[in-house]
Amino acid sequence: MHTVFFDAQKGDLERRELLYQGQLFVYSPCKSALEMCRFTQHLIREHFGGLDPTTAHLKMPVEEYAAILTELKPKFIHHPESKSYLQGILRELGFDIDKTYFDVPRLRTATSDNYLTTGIAYAFHPHRDTWYSAPLSQLNWWMPVFDIEPGNAMAFHPRYWGKAVKNGSSIYNYQDWNATSRFNAGQFIKVDTRVQPKPEEPMEINPQMRVVTNIGGILIFSAAHMHSTVPNDTGKTRFSIDFRTVNIDDLLARKGAKNVDSACTGTPMKDYLRGTDLSQLSDEIYSMYVNGTPIDEEKESAM
Ligand SMILES: [Fe+2]
Repeated sequence: MHTVFFDAQKGDLERRELLYQGQLFVYSPCKSALEMCRFTQHLIREHFGGLDPTTAHLKMPVEEYAAILTELKPKFIHHPESKSYLQGILRELGFDIDKTYFDVPRLRTATSDNYLTTGIAYAFHPHRDTWYSAPLSQLNWWMPVFDIEPGNAMAFHPRYWGKAVKNGSSIYNYQDWNATSRFNAGQFIKVDTRVQPKPEEPMEINPQMRVVTNIGGILIFSAAHMHSTVPNDTGKTRFSIDFRTVNIDDLLARKGAKNVDSACTGTPMKDYLRGTDLSQLSDEIYSMYVNGTPIDEEKESAM
């Protein structure tokens, strides 16, 4: 059973435990989230000139569109204001920012009608972020920057919570990926040849669940949840912000969701920054996670 907790007044610890059990948390737009969306809308509009960013793909060749995103996305990620809005969101939602570490926020786009679904705007097949070296205690945060609808949102596949899927995660190593594939995303316009962990058995993608919030509404979910990019047929590009958090106590105690099928190695542990002073996690924690986490066979069969 899955529950969506809406604007729940839960303590940080209880909320994390519920998230590790696969529950979802949704929050109405808070002040910092709305400010972050306004800032992001402005940045996006600057890059698309006078065009409406959600329909700009109708007015330009795909190469030109990809070039705009290739410039826009890193600018957003590395903008100092992006981090401070994020710190504000954590504070407003009652996360212990002394113990919570986040990675830099990303700006995502899902264009409509298969206009651009590779490289810089990769359309994700069903996956868990834990197939991509995310620790089992990682929480994913997601919010729309412009209005969205079910046809251009993100989909959850809740029947795969706690249920193993044959997949290619054993070929994935976060450190190798960063060294080779990540920084050339902009060159994959027609096909994407980068090797990614994918399901290796037929999947039932229905029933699926899509969460639609207003601009700046926030969705938080476990990195072990199976989710995908909805094939967008709305005519409008979806722009969203996502980022990830971990709690240092849970990392040290190896708490988190069960590992039913993630066999990747490497770790993004050096990407996370402390909510207060942006300091990194220790080498000790990096070493705990760099070789991956064993699959918990017993827990899987107990589900
Ligand atoms: Fe994901």
